[in-house]
Amino acid sequence: MFRSLVLDALKGNPVDRTPIWLMRQAGRYMAEYRAVREGRTFLDLCHDPDLAFEVTMQPIRAYDLDAAIVFADILLVPAAMGMDLSFIPGRGPVFADPIASPEDVARLTVLAPEQSLTGTLTALERLVDALDRPVLGFAGAPFTVACYAIEGQGSKDWVKVRRFMAEYPDAFQALLDKLSDATATWLNAQINAGAHAVQLFDTWAGLLGPQDFRDYALASSKRVFSQISGVPRIYFMRDSGAVLPWLPDTGCDAVGLDWRVSMSTARATLGNMPLQGNLDPMTLFQGEAQIRAAAHRVLAQAGPTGHVFNLGHGIHRFTPPEAVSILVDAVRSFDWRTI
Ligand code: CP3
Repeated sequence: MFRSLVLDALKGNPVDRTPIWLMRQAGRYMAEYRAVREGRTFLDLCHDPDLAFEVTMQPIRAYDLDAAIVFADILLVPAAMGMDLSFIPGRGPVFADPIASPEDVARLTVLAPEQSLTGTLTALERLVDALDRPVLGFAGAPFTVACYAIEGQGSKDWVKVRRFMAEYPDAFQALLDKLSDATATWLNAQINAGAHAVQLFDTWAGLLGPQDFRDYALASSKRVFSQISGVPRIYFMRDSGAVLPWLPDTGCDAVGLDWRVSMSTARATLGNMPLQGNLDPMTLFQGEAQIRAAAHRVLAQAGPTGHVFNLGHGIHRFTPPEAVSILVDAVRSFDWRTI
């Protein structure tokens, strides 16, 4: 039988128990992942359908999570639009040719996922065939992808991005428009390959002041979601506390929360909107009793319907795998009669 808990919760339908999956659930905290990764680059894993399938399955086998998320990266999209991406151990993603001028924006090609991102699409098709539970597709939100494309790598203050926005407002808007349309194409390709729901990751949108957030991050994500239909759409951003009431304006069906906002605040602000999150990933460095108590707090505050349990951000690479087992058990065995 198909285990539709995650989809039911994303639609706000009643569920027997709150489902759980974890952002970045496949990755270096798992010995099985490190074994596959040995002698290969991260991009090798992303582009090889056998390897992407295998590492996507690893956390499902180990923890019986309620959804799989296809193994890929948000930066595959700008790479497939002509940018030169590598992942450098210890440094993270690096573009050799960051966007520095309006001409660089014009240089980006139109995304053709059936040509350039076949590894992910093939892995997705096989996952949908193999699994009895939802397989999630995803992409980076346009603003967050633009951050990396302009900065060329991760940053604390993203000064190059802020300067580009100030110096070339039209080119910045053109970049967001191009990325929005590419992202919609990419999510639709994943939906055609069988993805049961999709998530936009807007990791850096919390950097912006309220007006810029509306004009750039929110508007571009809305442009993506307006081109997508038929499956639940999740919008996740970090540092969303100050702009929480506006998030449904993206056109999403569910809001993914980071750990800095309490589930009670989110419920009070967003009402019955399905929510996803939001345990602090660092809780997994604590002992069993603390993990269970923190998980129960999130569950109790979110309420029994319209909640998909998750972390408030990706799982940290040094997380003890046993802590994940404890967390999954805590969520699964939670009894509403005890609150
Ligand atoms: O959730 C999953 O299991 C699916 C896979 C997934 C990855 N990245 C795999 C990955 C997803 C959903 C992402 C999203 C992603 N990628 C985001 C948005 C979410 C977030 O974490 O904020 C961002 C900003 C990126 C860009 C990116 N990719 C960075 C900054 C890094 C380096 C980070 C680090 O910890 O080194 C990556 C690399 C990356 N993406 C790894 C994995 C498993 C580690 C790669 C490795 O060396 O094996």
